[in-house]
Amino acid sequence: MDTLVYMLNFLKDKNVASITPTSSVGVRRVCSKIDFQHENLIVEYGPGTGVFSKYLLDRMGQDSRLILIERNRNFKSILTKKLDDPRVIIVHDSAENVLETLRACKESEADYIISGIPFSFLDHDLKHRILYNTHRALKKGGKFLVYQTCFQTNNHLKVHLKKYFPQVNSKYELANIPPLRTYEAIK
Ligand SMILES: C[S@@+](CC[C@H](N)C(=O)[O-])C[C@H]1O[C@@H](n2cnc3c(N)ncnc32)[C@H](O)[C@@H]1O
Repeated sequence: MDTLVYMLNFLKDKNVASITPTSSVGVRRVCSKIDFQHENLIVEYGPGTGVFSKYLLDRMGQDSRLILIERNRNFKSILTKKLDDPRVIIVHDSAENVLETLRACKESEADYIISGIPFSFLDHDLKHRILYNTHRALKKGGKFLVYQTCFQTNNHLKVHLKKYFPQVNSKYELANIPPLRTYEAIK
């Protein structure tokens, strides 16, 4: 059901960008960079129908918090109905406003920011505004974990990540439609 709803939104909103939600293998691969032994503040850009959000909530401690920033109104409504959990805050906004969102949630810096928003669709200024604000929103040592389609060249994202983050690792994950390119950028 979720996949059908997701596909219908894909047809109506180009920013949804992928035809199906991320596979469970893709979710596990991206989240393998998270240390769930500690209490964390995690921010997710573009949660869609919540495949990452659900996985995170199942593993996060009781004092951890998850802030979801989703610009598609239908997805925001689906998430609100689906995720009835006191650790979650769901915000209908765009990723570049992450600093204002953290302030409104009375939080300062995140341990992890996860993102599936389509960076290759963004113009240069918006891409850099999101990266600059994301870097500011993270703690020292915090991680920006990004998943994109595998068709991206380094010029789409990696070179831009390197302008802000001293360490950027990237890998491919084939068990997804389409295959993913994942990034781990460490502040
Ligand atoms: C590729 S989909 C990923 C959806 C979901 N996380 C998953 O893995 O199945 C991209 C998501 O990012 C959202 N999105 C696109 N641009 C955004 C932005 N600037 N700020 C917040 N969300 C955005 C879309 O609405 C969509 O939910």
